[in-house]
Amino acid sequence: MEYSVKGQRFSYDAQGEKIWGTDSVLLNDSIDLTADKHWHETGYTIEKLFDDELYNTFTKNVYTLLINCWREAGLPVTDQFLLQEYHKVATDFETHLRAVEKTKLLSVNDFPISIHLLEERISAICKTPLIAKNPFDQQAIFHFRVIRPGKTDNNPLHRDVWLEDYDNCINLYIPIAGSNELTSLMIIPGSHLWPESKIERTAVGALINGVKFNVPAVTSIKDDFTVVRPSPGPNEVLVFSPYLIHGGAINSSPDQTRISIEIRLWKK
Ligand SMILES: [Fe+2]
Repeated sequence: MEYSVKGQRFSYDAQGEKIWGTDSVLLNDSIDLTADKHWHETGYTIEKLFDDELYNTFTKNVYTLLINCWREAGLPVTDQFLLQEYHKVATDFETHLRAVEKTKLLSVNDFPISIHLLEERISAICKTPLIAKNPFDQQAIFHFRVIRPGKTDNNPLHRDVWLEDYDNCINLYIPIAGSNELTSLMIIPGSHLWPESKIERTAVGALINGVKFNVPAVTSIKDDFTVVRPSPGPNEVLVFSPYLIHGGAINSSPDQTRISIEIRLWKK
């Protein structure tokens, strides 16, 4: 799969059986939380997150939480450790995986502020009451996504809804550290409205450079397409449809780890 963002070319080779989809548009049989919004056509929007005081509390608590998680994973991080320098202490893949185990599948009870405040804010953006709890498996969780520079820590391009249990939700990308135009999530605007027949993908999961991914990977796209890298700033959130093709976000920064919070909300 080849793609480019602002003239910079990227590619990956996903192993495994490949299939083209049917003419169905998955979003047509689902709850579309982008419907009737000004961002319906693109499938994503960048919005302000919290008021300044709440955002200060949020960032302080994020810092403490991450440092504690990394210490539990055995990383030598000091109290003054800069989050975006994570790759300097997680230099090999095994150490990185050990740390990722501690920073994924976290309970929303451990969210850096009351989860209700986040739910309220995103409900206002989506103009409907939302809850950070998956109605399919009852999980109420969030993850830190930690992508080291120049490494293959990132997912391939995919739709979340190719996996079970992600239907009907809305995704959040909250930048935490090292998130900028060279490192943030990649998105194909408008692809949430595409029929599956426009996309070739791996049938189940993907194997890329010897790394296994649960999610199927896009391997080809009919017609021209554009990939963008929206870059939410401090106290901003990228809100996007799980039906959008996204991922493939190699960290092109020379010296910063990109850290973001990933969390999903569903209609109450
Ligand atoms: Fe995803």
